[in-house]
Amino acid sequence: MAELKLKGVAKSYGEVEVLSNIDLEISSGEFVVFVGPSGCGKSTLLRMIAGLERISGGTLEIDGQKMNDIPPSQRGIAMVFQSYALYPHMTVRDNMAFALRIAGQSRQQIREATDRAGRMLQLTPYLDRLPKALSGGQRQRVAIGRAIVRDPKVYLFDEPLSNLDAALRVATRIEIAQLKESMPDRTMIYVTHDQTEAMTLADRIVVLAGGGIAQVGAPLELYERPVNEFVAQFIGSPAMNLLPGRISSTGEMTGVTLDGGGEAQVAISTRPEEMGLKVNLGVRPEDMRITDGPAIFKGEVDMTEALGEVTLLYFGTRGDVTPVIAKLPGIHAGMNGRNVRLTADPEALHLFHEGRSMLYRDGVELGPYVPRAASLPG
Ligand SMILES: Nc1ncnc2c1ncn2[C@@H]1O[C@H](COP(=O)(O)OP(=O)(O)O)[C@@H](O)[C@H]1O
Ligand SMILES: [Mg+2]
Repeated sequence: MAELKLKGVAKSYGEVEVLSNIDLEISSGEFVVFVGPSGCGKSTLLRMIAGLERISGGTLEIDGQKMNDIPPSQRGIAMVFQSYALYPHMTVRDNMAFALRIAGQSRQQIREATDRAGRMLQLTPYLDRLPKALSGGQRQRVAIGRAIVRDPKVYLFDEPLSNLDAALRVATRIEIAQLKESMPDRTMIYVTHDQTEAMTLADRIVVLAGGGIAQVGAPLELYERPVNEFVAQFIGSPAMNLLPGRISSTGEMTGVTLDGGGEAQVAISTRPEEMGLKVNLGVRPEDMRITDGPAIFKGEVDMTEALGEVTLLYFGTRGDVTPVIAKLPGIHAGMNGRNVRLTADPEALHLFHEGRSMLYRDGVELGPYVPRAASLPG
């Protein structure tokens, strides 16, 4: 059991306000991931929850108890950092046991806790080794083991996999997911700038930007229903294309005439008075496909990237505008220099006015989120 409540939490360093007005409730057993651009305050927020950083304003509650002035050791929290900083002269077991020794636990207790952590993290064969005789992934598991032995109610992770190479990152990410499954009542908050980690690990993602929370939601909800252009372009890779245009028909479906000459039908309803409104049409690269019919976007391919599983087509890389990118499944040879027409399903399109999604509007209940693919036949 560990439920966190942040109410109007703020952080300033002197005159500089890094975070303000953070309202967030995290349920017991939830896996919440903080994402956001570098320097947006992810680590700061995590460190305030841990008690390593003073909270400048607002309150933090854990299980209904105000924690602002409670020292880190009494919050029932353990934190795992990017740099695992193990003691090089101590064995894996002693590294994991260190905090328990300081806390004055008995040999028996320490033995049991380190055995258990070793089993949970598949470190049993390595308990008597020194850190230098371990791989990077194993070392990071020891660092996680140091948290597990204390059996905290809340685990905080600050980019724990950033120092690992790509293959180890994938393996360790899966281990963290399994670890969470084995501890369903433990709450985890995880900071990362890695999209895949965020999408795969999180029950809910918190997007931080501009000193506040841009959006909170299930990973696919953020992907399919971003509240604004920032979240739309932050979640998903390559980023969502934003094509400027004007509303040309309103109703259940909305027609958009793009400045580039294309036409789009969008499955978002608009009101008659919104006719002619300046909008940005949002199209994810992976939602675009080549067509002979009416096109949202027409252009000459000026660069391709063949990744095998997908091919990226780039348009307009030579100008000073952001290039438009289409991501087609599979291999497409000889596309450079070709003129193509691209379209996308009305249900896959997004509409933004002054940066805000037109899905979210005053007085309109959006209804619970259901992933788009699940509503397709078959
Ligand atoms: N001790 C500090 N003193 C002053 N500014 C700080 C301090 N720690 C962090 N900051 C500033 O707070 C902002 C958020 O930092 P941080 O939480 O580390 O960002 P993130 O983890 O999202 O990359 C940054 O602009 C950083 O420069
Ligand atoms: Mg950080």
